Amino acid sequence: MTNNISYEEIINIQRKTNIVDIIKDYVPLAQKGKNYFGICPFHDDHNPSMSVSEEKQMYKCFVCGNSGNVYNFIMEYEKVSFIEAVKIVAEKIGIIIDVNNINKEVDNKYSNLYDIYDISYKFYQNNLNTAYGKEAKKYLLDRNIDENIIRQFNIGLSLSNSELYSVLKKKGFSDNDILSSCVALEKNGKIYDLYKNRIMFPLYDLQGKVVGFSGRIYTKSDESKYINTKETKIFKKGELLYNYHVAKKIARSEKNIIVVEGFMDVIRLSTIGINNVVATMGTAVTKHQAELIKKLALNIILMFDGDKAGEKATESYIQQFGQDDSNIKVVRLEDNLDPDEYILKNGKDKMIEHLSHPISIYDFKLSVYQKDIDFSNSKDVSNYINIMVNEINKIDDDIVRNLEIKKLSKLTSVDENIIISKIKPNNNKRIQINNIKPKNIKTTKYEKASRYILHHMINDNNAILYYYNNLSYLPFDNERKLANEIVKFYKKYDSFNLNDFIIYLNDNKELVNLVIDIDSMNLSNEESNDDLDDYFSVIKQYLYDNQIKKLTNELKLETNDIKRKEIAQKIVDLKKKEKI
Ligand code: GTP
Ligand code: MN
Repeated sequence: MTNNISYEEIINIQRKTNIVDIIKDYVPLAQKGKNYFGICPFHDDHNPSMSVSEEKQMYKCFVCGNSGNVYNFIMEYEKVSFIEAVKIVAEKIGIIIDVNNINKEVDNKYSNLYDIYDISYKFYQNNLNTAYGKEAKKYLLDRNIDENIIRQFNIGLSLSNSELYSVLKKKGFSDNDILSSCVALEKNGKIYDLYKNRIMFPLYDLQGKVVGFSGRIYTKSDESKYINTKETKIFKKGELLYNYHVAKKIARSEKNIIVVEGFMDVIRLSTIGINNVVATMGTAVTKHQAELIKKLALNIILMFDGDKAGEKATESYIQQFGQDDSNIKVVRLEDNLDPDEYILKNGKDKMIEHLSHPISIYDFKLSVYQKDIDFSNSKDVSNYINIMVNEINKIDDDIVRNLEIKKLSKLTSVDENIIISKIKPNNNKRIQINNIKPKNIKTTKYEKASRYILHHMINDNNAILYYYNNLSYLPFDNERKLANEIVKFYKKYDSFNLNDFIIYLNDNKELVNLVIDIDSMNLSNEESNDDLDDYFSVIKQYLYDNQIKKLTNELKLETNDIKRKEIAQKIVDLKKKEKI
């Protein structure tokens, strides 16, 4: 491992931890028999399909197959590296790990990029306090962005030529690295700063490291209002949310996350003490971002700009989230204002009032579609009812359905029974239950044999050696890799233990999922080497079979008679072996 925490220490931390207590902090769990069950946070789940075993100290989702130990859970949920997950778990049980050791572990491959952004944002920040920054500072203060906010969000200023480039050169970065960070660009063989005379807002990744910038004009100009860093190896717009690293802790404890469009909205909301906010930065929401938001908190409030574009953005978000979700609420601001402008104009209390009375998705749609309706035109009204009936069909809760039907009837003056006659019976819940099916388990005899062999290996140390000495090969990639790792582990530690082995696998999620899947197969652990021999011969059969197929193909293409005979003989030999 590439860090200073020893493997033994990591095992020790896991031994002192109860996975049930840790996961309970993220997902409500209910005990059923020996195990605990909860809604799986790793796919769009509506039923408790994730089981957590106190005995085994592992979790497993029967629908999406995600599984692992306590560290795997934290890695997946918090989107952190293995070592960071260890640190989080350690902290939860009161063990402090030296943070300095951990920071070194940041993806070394891109450490130059991280370093460049680090130096850049500090350079920008410093410029704001020089004589050159006077006008920009005035712009910020006029917008009610004071020194505290500037410091809190690390706001800065870019200069007019290639000052940043020179600084980075002096620090020893190569042109290649500087160009690939996108803070500078090449033009006619010379390199210039990309951002010129702009107020600079650092953009952060999910862990809070600076990975790019958004630069805003602050004087009258025809240039675009904001320029964002282009996608780099570490900056993927569709996978980021502004302020995520700050919002995540607060959102989880408050069980509420507010989503806004612009980072200025995030900044303004923070000045009135609201910090469980992330911004999407004006792009269409990706599936990835929607998943991130859903994982942050149970309740989501979409508070986009009060204009038509904000309305459209709200609609497309709802679509991305899945419409039946009653935990998503909407705030619409009056007078086309965005949250930033709204707070400046109407004050903190009005904003808090708004946020404490968000409307349901259904009510949002009711009012959006209503705008295009002429209520004196019966065709319009009929269309409107059809659209809204379609929305009511998506509601799970019978009581909410009933209330919405009444509301629609009142609004349109159309008899309730007519609306009811158009509504489908509420079978949303039934469909969801039917959806729970274990993942298809591959069932060719070869795959079965591979899995049985592995099952023996993880349950019986002797089987590991027996495999190593008598077969030491499996035909399928992941199964073979797993077997190799088991052998390696066994040789290194002289015995095999599944919990420790999963830690050893580190962030190799594919193998973690596979080994837990195999462990959960219902098989007797007490089979003999004879049984293993049976499985081995099935695998050998597969290998011979494959070789025969290959040779048969060769035979078809071969024109030389001597060579044809040789190949034919090989096939005969293999066929004999296959029968043994
Ligand atoms: P201010 O005008 O400074 O108050 O910003 P805003 O938050 O009101 O921005 P707006 O609602 O216009 O846009 C929302 C988000 O879209 C911003 O935070 C930016 O990330 C992004 N954005 C806006 N304008 C531009 C632009 O011209 N270019 C790019 N690349 N992004 C933009
Ligand atoms: Mn604005």
